[in-house]
Amino acid sequence: MKTSLTGIKPTNNPHLGNYLGAIRPALALARSYRTLYFIADYHALTTVRDPALLRQYTRDVTAAWIASGLDPAQTLLYRQSDVREVFELAWVLSCLLATGQLERGHAYKAALDRGEAPSAGVFNYPVLMAADILLYDAHVVPVGEDQRQHIELTRDVAKRLNHLYGEGTLVVPEALVDDAPLVPGTDGEKMSKSRGNALPLFAPASELRKAVMRIATSSEPLEAPKEPEGSVVYRLYRQVAPARADEMATKLRAGGYGWGHAKQDLFEALEAELGPKRERYQAIRADEAGLEATLAAGAERARAIAAATMRRVRHAVGID
Ligand code: ADP
Ligand code: TRP
Repeated sequence: MKTSLTGIKPTNNPHLGNYLGAIRPALALARSYRTLYFIADYHALTTVRDPALLRQYTRDVTAAWIASGLDPAQTLLYRQSDVREVFELAWVLSCLLATGQLERGHAYKAALDRGEAPSAGVFNYPVLMAADILLYDAHVVPVGEDQRQHIELTRDVAKRLNHLYGEGTLVVPEALVDDAPLVPGTDGEKMSKSRGNALPLFAPASELRKAVMRIATSSEPLEAPKEPEGSVVYRLYRQVAPARADEMATKLRAGGYGWGHAKQDLFEALEAELGPKRERYQAIRADEAGLEATLAAGAERARAIAAATMRRVRHAVGID
């Protein structure tokens, strides 16, 4: 069975876009791959500068994934920072990468274009990410389109190391790029924490309902037939309850069914999907000692894989 590795950056409390666009599809992979999931807390350090916040996000995100169905006994869940070998491998890889390749990095270039003075952490981000992947012999890495370049760089450096030091030293991974439609936020733009248009994932039902009622709609009268395509309510409903989406489209087109009704149906579909998970989330999140124990157990298993890879790499390069 091939190995799939998912990296999760703890930079916010997950929203519905993260759930539909990242969490749910990544968890579905456990049916066809040996799956590894890790919390990329050292990557978050390029943007999160508040230690209490980083601790909080790390726990929020870990609890959100477990509540959403990640079973730490069936898959491997660990925290990046618990496995120090990743920095050892990152150094070896950086010695094989031209600075020019990092200078062409999309995220680094975008920061320069915005007139920022990016840190060396932003510059080296792709090297640490390549180490994350290569340390665990991952065959596939599920990512969004924005991460494709990072996987290309990972492949390049793995091939270079194998070519120089011995074929088979590292597994050359492949990107598994999902082409699912972006989840729209309440304003119709991409749902994103920074835009303030997100539907909360595990907030109380009353708060979720309020957020759903805030979704922008057109203002036809109740009786008027309505076009579902393109409306935010319908786009969201189709992703949350695909089996019943046609039914909602028919009702909208027939007239006599208002946007308020559609929002109520969307809210109920969200509640059906998220309600039970919210309860699990609250229990898991409240038990911080339990979360730490889960991560510690994962770290131990992850370290065994990392140590084996580093033995191979160190021997290959002549440091042993
Ligand atoms: P945000 O845009 O809120 O800062 P992140 O960039 O941290 O979210 O995204 C984390 C993961 O969630 C990524 O895999 C990303 O592709 C996915 N994701 C975020 N927002 C959406 C969205 N609106 N639709 C689909 N997937 C999303
Ligand atoms: N860069 C990824 C993101 O921004 C997070 C990440 C870090 C990652 N290391 C990884 C993803 C390794 C996949 C594999 O979402």
